[in-house]
Amino acid sequence: MYDFKIAASDKQTLYRDLLSALEGLTTGEPDAIANMANAAALIWESLPDLNWAGFYRNVGGELVLGPFQGRPACIRIPFGKGVCGTAAASLQVQRIVDVHAFPGHIACDSASESELVVPIVRDGELLAVLDLDSPQKARFDAEDEAGCVALCGLLARLL
Ligand code: SME
Repeated sequence: MYDFKIAASDKQTLYRDLLSALEGLTTGEPDAIANMANAAALIWESLPDLNWAGFYRNVGGELVLGPFQGRPACIRIPFGKGVCGTAAASLQVQRIVDVHAFPGHIACDSASESELVVPIVRDGELLAVLDLDSPQKARFDAEDEAGCVALCGLLARLL
């Protein structure tokens, strides 16, 4: 088991450490599922106040549940549906302050209050989305978004 102990108090350092840990964990490993599994575990262990962290993969134009940490979740999400499907259809990050105010939000876990979904895109093609849920309203700020976009930039080369 790897013990990274990433616990910087400022978010810039936290995400820089997280990115270098993810680089270390994935270097030389070509298996996409293994890399997503370790990324989900690393994020879950390192970021506070999450109740779900994981991936939905683009399987033939539909999002299908990938490696994650948290409670069992809905398995298939059509493009355009919910927060994840909106990120998939638009290829735009969705940073949702209050999921209850998002039309069509899919409540996999009733504890979720805010959500961040980052598309993972290579050569214009959606590979997967990273989905983070929090039991706190407005848990994710612009620094979380920038940090997760950087993690997904690395993952885009690995999936
Ligand atoms: N809330 C998401 C569904 C996935 S779960 O949060 C794990 C959505 O609206 O797309």
